[in-house]
Parts: sequence; C-alpha cells; structure tokens
Amino acid sequence: MEVNVFNLERDHSDIKEELIDKFREVLERGEYILGSESKAFEDAFSAYIGTKYAVGVGSGTDALKIGGLACNLKAGDKFVTTPNTYISTAMSLSIHGIVPVFCDIELDTYNMDPEMLAHLLKKERGIKLCIPVHLYGHPCKMDEIVDICIRHGVMVMEDACQAHGALYKERKVGGLSDLAAFSFYPTKNLGCYGDGGMITTNSEDIYKKALMLRIYGQSSKHVHDIEGFNSRLDEIQAALLSIKLKKLDSWNKKRRHIVWLYRRELEDTPVILPYEAPWAYHVYHLYVIRVKERDELMGFLKEKGISTLIHYPTPIHLQEVYKRLGYKKGAFLNAEKVSAEIISLPIYPSMKEDEVLYVARSIREFYGMKA
Ligand SMILES: Cc1ncc(COP(=O)(O)O)c(C=O)c1O
Repeated sequence: MEVNVFNLERDHSDIKEELIDKFREVLERGEYILGSESKAFEDAFSAYIGTKYAVGVGSGTDALKIGGLACNLKAGDKFVTTPNTYISTAMSLSIHGIVPVFCDIELDTYNMDPEMLAHLLKKERGIKLCIPVHLYGHPCKMDEIVDICIRHGVMVMEDACQAHGALYKERKVGGLSDLAAFSFYPTKNLGCYGDGGMITTNSEDIYKKALMLRIYGQSSKHVHDIEGFNSRLDEIQAALLSIKLKKLDSWNKKRRHIVWLYRRELEDTPVILPYEAPWAYHVYHLYVIRVKERDELMGFLKEKGISTLIHYPTPIHLQEVYKRLGYKKGAFLNAEKVSAEIISLPIYPSMKEDEVLYVARSIREFYGMKA
C-alpha cells in the first residue's frame, strides 16, 4: 500500500464539481482582484474566527509581514518567537530589518513556554512584538502569553498558519490577541489552489493599516500615504475558499478521528504521541510523533510505501541565515531535542481507516510488536 503525507486531490473530491462551477462563475464575471468574492470570504472568515476584521493577502508569509508592519514595527525593533517553526515566522519580518529573538518551547505542546517568555522579556530590551505559533494545530497558552506581554508593553500576533479552527478554552485561535496570521497554502487545514493568506484582528487601526499595506500604501485611488506592497488574496482563491470554509469543521473532525485511531494502535509502543492539553481543541494540521530512532523508523516506513516528513529538522536559530544573531547549539535545548526526534506521519481528512491502520501497524512491526 502507498500512503502519502497529504492527499489534496482526494480531500476535495466530494466538492470538486462545486469548485469547478464556482471557478467558471468567477472566470466569466471578469473581476479578479479585490472584488465581491474576496470581501465575502473576508466577512465569512472573520465571522468564523470571531474577529471584527479580516484582510486577505497573498500568503501566510505576507500576513505575518503586513501584520507586523501594521503594528508599526520598524527596522531595529525586535520580535520574539520560537525556534521550531517554519522559517517564514521569522523571515517575514527579519527581511525588513526587524530582529528575531527566540524563546524555547514546552516539551508537551511544542509551543512557546510562557515561563521562559516571562524570563526573556525581563532581561531583553527592545522587543515590540511576540509571535506565538500554534504549531501543528495545537493552541499556545494564550492567557499566560498575552498577560506577560501586556505587562511588558509587547503586542501579540498569533501565527495561526497551521491552526484553522483550533480552540483555546472554547475560543477560536486567531482572535485571542492583537492580530493573527493565517496561511491558505494548499496543504493547510483550509487550503487554496496556490498561495493565499489572511490577517484577523479586532483593532481598527491595524485593520486600516493592513488594508493600505496590501495595496501600495494606498488610502484611496491614486493616493499613497505610506509605502506598501502588492499582496491580495485574489477572487478565484477567495471564491474557492468560501466553499471550503463550510467544510473546515467536518474536515477537522475527520483529522481527529484519524488521531483517535493512531492513538488506539500506538499507545503501548515506545513512540511519544502528540499531546492535547485539557483546555485545547487540537486540529492536527500535522500528526507529529517523537522517537529516538527517527532515521531508522522513517527508512522502514519508506520501504513499506509510507511517506513521512520532518517539521522541522533544523531549529531556526541554527539556520545559516541567522548565524549573524549569534545563537549557538545548546541555546534552546527543548527545540533542539525535539527537532532530532520528530516525524510527521500521514494525516488528511480523506485518509481511510485501513491506511491509518497500515501506518500504525507498520510502526508496531518496526518495534517487533504484535499488530
Ligand atoms: C507556522 C507557519 N508560519 C508561516 C507559514 C507561511 O505561510 P505561507 O506558506 O502561506 O507563506 C507557514 C506555512 O507554510 C507555517 O506553517
């Protein structure tokens, strides 16, 4: 049997005709940028997340970049995030001269450790923004993080690129701080057919500035008050995302059913399974296990026709691009430990039970355990 980490074509098979009809409708309408579809999707997405505003942009990276600049960050300011995230969390702002500072993670949620954040903010000056990442679809400890940041006058932008529909204490992530960034990269829990992203916020100031930044700093036609970009979520993507948004909760439930099966099959193995805090609703964008013998297990699964990935093999502070920041190996022990042990197993809403069982039982076989 062949099992891939994702299966995008199969995931949308039950709405394929609806997507094609919508594509044709938008094509024939002849309005492709900042029209009725993008406005309708922004309204639907902000209603779904529970924020006053949403601004569609070109990617998750652009959502972080425009979001950070809409908070008035400028070159020389600092922001704090974790080292075990996608490089984009840091690079979206560091390319504008805004300096990343890292904070280690917890070993259960793999997210920013609020105690370490509190310690860091006491000693490090110049941090203007904190970017907690709801990694793999598990929410961060937002009450603690927001509290600490308020005490230090630091703004908070959630990186919710992997967590569409995740809940923190019954509330959707993406509406728990000053603003949030979402990605609609095709493999995400809510993905489009190219690149796309969204900023969500309750702040009118951030909203207005983000609207300008995404269209050449324009306040009205041919009036440019600030420097900006060209970064919009286009009409076709927005129209297709509106259809897919209605499926998001049921797709997330399917992911959770797959997780339930994995857990049932793997509970008694040496594998460290993903954790879900009692206050969290994890949406399992990725199903990340931890094992000491990572390379051997990945090789064994590959021989069985099962693809796996590593999110992420090198913590950001050890990437070549950030050598200039001066971090050494050993600076963030938890992130470094985790990066050497993690494997992302296949998970996607249309994954069949026999595929999940095949993956799980292959892992049991690797450990010489009965199916
Ligand atoms: C945690 C995280 N942040 C940021 C991004 C960047 O999003 P995009 O690929 O849409 O630019 C991604 C996705 O790739 C991500 O997983």
